[in-house]
Amino acid sequence: MPGSRRSHPIVSTGAALVLLCAAACRDNRLPEIDGSKRALTAGKTLFERKCASCHAVNGDGRTMTGSRFPYANLIDGKWRGDGSLASIEQQIRKGRDPMPRFEGKLTDEEIRETAAYVLDLARRKGRK
Ligand code: HEC
Repeated sequence: MPGSRRSHPIVSTGAALVLLCAAACRDNRLPEIDGSKRALTAGKTLFERKCASCHAVNGDGRTMTGSRFPYANLIDGKWRGDGSLASIEQQIRKGRDPMPRFEGKLTDEEIRETAAYVLDLARRKGRK
């Protein structure tokens, strides 16, 4: 019945205003928020969802799959490549058996965020 839908335009206008405000207010109130901090937070979420099953949440690779491969330890300071952000990003893109390739499964931005998080985790040696 038509009456039951009457409140919808108001609700959606309200929601749009809240979204607009959330975007605008965030810019106004927290201009100091730094992109890399945001990227690391996003990278952490991705890492825990997509990578920790093999690499462990702290990155030491002590998991069923990871413990069979020395390079699955991401926090021991030993890298198959040169340990640069670019080489970490490359491993995430291309994978290396048994690690799947994430190119096409994660966006470029997500790959960069995850790589930044891996480097940060390595520098902190898995500590919180
Ligand atoms: C199915 C298990 C698995 C998953 C899932 C996985 N990896 Fe791996 N990863 C491995 C293994 C095993 C290695 C070591 C392979 C080798 O010998 O090069 C590795 C290696 C790496 C390396 C290279 C480390 C070095 O020492 O050079 C990086 C960086 C890496 N993984 C990051 C990630 C990230 C980030 C994700 C999630 C987006 C991820 N991995 C998901 C199993 C996995």
